[in-house]
Amino acid sequence: MSEWWRHAVVYQVYVRSFADSDGDGIGDLPGITSRLPYLRELGVDAVWVTPFYRSPQHDHGYDVADYTDVDPLFGALSDADELVARAHELGLRVIVDLVPNHTSSEHAWFRAALAAEPGSAERARYLFRTGRGADASEPPNNWRSVFGGPAWTRVGDTDQWYLHLFDTSQPDLDWRNPEVPAMFADVLRFWLDRDVDGFRVDVAHGLLKEASLRDQRGQEKSSDLFDVGGLAEDAPMWDQPEVHDVYRQWHAILAEYDGDRMAVAEAWTRTVESNARYVRPDELNQAFNFDWVMAPWSAAAFADVIERTLPALAAVGGTPTWVLSNHDVQRHATRYGGGEAGRARARAATLLSLALPGSAYLYQGEELGLEEVDVAPADRQDPSWFRTGEPGRDSCRVPIPWAGSEPPYGFGPGAGQPWIPQPGEWAPLTVDAQSGEPGSTLEFYRQALSVRRSLARDASDAVDVHLDGDVLSVRRGDLTVVVNCGSAPSALPEGELVIASGPVGDDLPPDTAVWVSSAG
Ligand code: GLC
Ligand code: MG
Repeated sequence: MSEWWRHAVVYQVYVRSFADSDGDGIGDLPGITSRLPYLRELGVDAVWVTPFYRSPQHDHGYDVADYTDVDPLFGALSDADELVARAHELGLRVIVDLVPNHTSSEHAWFRAALAAEPGSAERARYLFRTGRGADASEPPNNWRSVFGGPAWTRVGDTDQWYLHLFDTSQPDLDWRNPEVPAMFADVLRFWLDRDVDGFRVDVAHGLLKEASLRDQRGQEKSSDLFDVGGLAEDAPMWDQPEVHDVYRQWHAILAEYDGDRMAVAEAWTRTVESNARYVRPDELNQAFNFDWVMAPWSAAAFADVIERTLPALAAVGGTPTWVLSNHDVQRHATRYGGGEAGRARARAATLLSLALPGSAYLYQGEELGLEEVDVAPADRQDPSWFRTGEPGRDSCRVPIPWAGSEPPYGFGPGAGQPWIPQPGEWAPLTVDAQSGEPGSTLEFYRQALSVRRSLARDASDAVDVHLDGDVLSVRRGDLTVVVNCGSAPSALPEGELVIASGPVGDDLPPDTAVWVSSAG
């Protein structure tokens, strides 16, 4: 079975919020392993596990202090091995997260850098620069952190500052220093030797900065979390041409291993063409399709993204990915309006995603119809909340309800509460409550993933996109998906109804999608 990832459904596990084995209120690796049969039964092909490496957890693991060890909070290295082995027994692949743009400020390299002199080899692994102004009291340039505030922090009262495109605890590495790619080549091999099937590459568009570190034009206008990111019009810190040399090197490393190892890029870039560059034949295998995440609930918007994505990827021999939710964005049920309508639309958009050629990424809890949770300010932990006072990303990271009628809903053993409180109204949404319940979101996902395997996964990659007002249909061989984004019922398409995202009668109700087959 070659290039399994091209048509895989990958389920994203946010480690601290999936399943807690030891009752400390924080999800962990043995917790994930114990729930792998659930994922197998759900019908996904692979699981992507967010960072579980040693970390002070200022950005919940995206601040890595040791890339080749497991944080005691989540278990031990043997637990990672056990997870991978058990997943493979069940026929599931495992993708681990790789965080190459920055380390934690507690990484041995950064500690050594702070202890060393300006201009030393230790400092040269990061981006230390002299401040501006008479007493160097101004940052070296005008860049903003994605999490708010300046992207530079001053080292004590010296004239040196270091760059951090994210939190102050996440110093950016200098990828022009050969020690850095050498270290990450070792990290890749370490995990490949432990049999992981692939990597999700964090901030893949950020590793190289324009060498001059010149000011960013127009940055004073943008302050939104991801606006300061790769979508800014002038972005000397993002999507630089040299970043592709890194991925060519990684491609060669992955190719040394058997078993079709892969890597998927988190690359926020301005165009589908620049995004497709990350998946050229000698680079990474996939890149998240963030245009799909950002598309509003609109047939025209969906059609537009499909019609831009497919040719851009075809041009480089790449395969599209369809992403609606992840641990950084509002859950799609909420984004589409929330409540009953939002949940119905979310299921419909999922059914649309699953019909399209390529691979789909699901985020834990979407199969339960979870929406954003209103997390009380005192419970918020996202560094962007501390830096900007904006609510941040905790709302999509609330631990999964598995069973029972009150928090922690089986998230961990006993009655201990998870690291963010779960809502009191989640009893009907637990895995237990929805299992076997006709019409539940969970049963819908199970059915959709099963039908996808038999009908859509290997169907032709050629599609025919048809937009009729608020109704979008996409035909792939014998299979047609139709989604009604309008407010009035539309006609059901001809053919055999295979699956629907909600109740359908003689027509296709608003906020609903169906698959019909014209085979036989
Ligand atoms: C990526 C991660 C996000 C993290 C950031 C910094 O965007 O998905 O969660 O905060 O990188 O590592
Ligand atoms: Mg735990």
